[in-house]
Amino acid sequence: MPGGQSPTQAGINTRLAHIGYEPGSYFGFVNPPVVHASTVLFPNARTMAARDQKYIYATHGTPTTEALSGAIDELEGSAGTVLVPSGQAAVALPLLAFLSAGDHALITDSVYAPTRQFADLVLRRMGIEVEYYEPRIGAGIKRLLRSNTKVVFTESPASNTFEVQDISAIARVAHAGDAVVMMDNSWATPLFFRPLDHGVDISIHAATKYPGGHSDLLLGTVSTNAATWPRLWEMFLTLGIPAAPDDTYQVLRGLRTMGVRLAHHQKSAIEIASWLEHQPGIARVLNPALPSHPDHAVWMRDFSGASGVFSIVLAAGSQSHAFLDALEIFGLGFSWGSYGSLAMQVDLSDRTVADGVFEGPLIRLQIGLEDIEDLKRDLARGLRATTRAGRPGFDQSVL
Ligand SMILES: Cc1ncc(COP(=O)(O)O)c(C=O)c1O
Repeated sequence: MPGGQSPTQAGINTRLAHIGYEPGSYFGFVNPPVVHASTVLFPNARTMAARDQKYIYATHGTPTTEALSGAIDELEGSAGTVLVPSGQAAVALPLLAFLSAGDHALITDSVYAPTRQFADLVLRRMGIEVEYYEPRIGAGIKRLLRSNTKVVFTESPASNTFEVQDISAIARVAHAGDAVVMMDNSWATPLFFRPLDHGVDISIHAATKYPGGHSDLLLGTVSTNAATWPRLWEMFLTLGIPAAPDDTYQVLRGLRTMGVRLAHHQKSAIEIASWLEHQPGIARVLNPALPSHPDHAVWMRDFSGASGVFSIVLAAGSQSHAFLDALEIFGLGFSWGSYGSLAMQVDLSDRTVADGVFEGPLIRLQIGLEDIEDLKRDLARGLRATTRAGRPGFDQSVL
């Protein structure tokens, strides 16, 4: 596209191909430079004193970070985006920016486990009262709001158990109480859900997942509306945690193909999830894109697609390790959003109010870009192995 401008009404893949960088701003090169920097020079003392130029120091931004944060702003509809070294840092940063001693924070109980750890370890030590709420609470969160509730943290669908939250209802009530609403939107990406359109103030992403897409980097993004931007930006600069230039560039590179990759992840994951529902050895499939999911209607109402991560509950008494060890294509590893399929057993022992009781072992699957029939064959191999291993004597401790 001439000049790299993205027409506002263009389709998502057209926009992903062109957002975030204008080749005309750097000698016509199609991609932005990877700027390795700390110092930026000023032409004279007056300019330096007034900080009167576009770039002043690399913690504040470079042409590389500006390209990616601009692209994310366009996708999120946000006023500003900061880039930090991991998804976990993207969770911690806004919580630190908006909470102080004596405040009360409400966090969904089905939150990504390290988010809970940050809240329990750091926020509580800072004198912040942390309370976990039932993820499906919706407008019922009103009864938990207090005069000192400053943050309502959401994540939808939930990590590992995939409850879908009524984000608009939660945001409406939280704003009436003057709390800032944050959402970890990593599962959907801004392609399938735009938090700020649903009343969220701050949208958080582990760009390590689908934006990066290749298991070769860590990066987080935090995007805000205009009202919350100054405070977030101030904390970002104060903590000094900008993302590294090479990772920033790689995530922008990943965005170019994210729509195409997500379409494939979505198609494969839905087909495999639907197939799994009818396989022996499966008690339940937890994927909001399936009509059998209890929150399917909310997902249909709010989301425009489903990514490739969901969970299965193996039949009672199944040998989870036999299932996992029999897999040949699915790797055993943490994270998701990359080209390769992954499986892991989920531990829900940290949940306090959300339902963490299932018929058998809970396994999270990340459906990668491999061919569907190969993935089905692999899963069938795993399910046969659990049956062969026999259910009597199942070790409950591995749940
Ligand atoms: C929902 C969610 N948020 C945040 C993160 C943290 O991302 P990172 O691995 O980049 O720290 C993860 C990682 O698995 C995640 O699943």
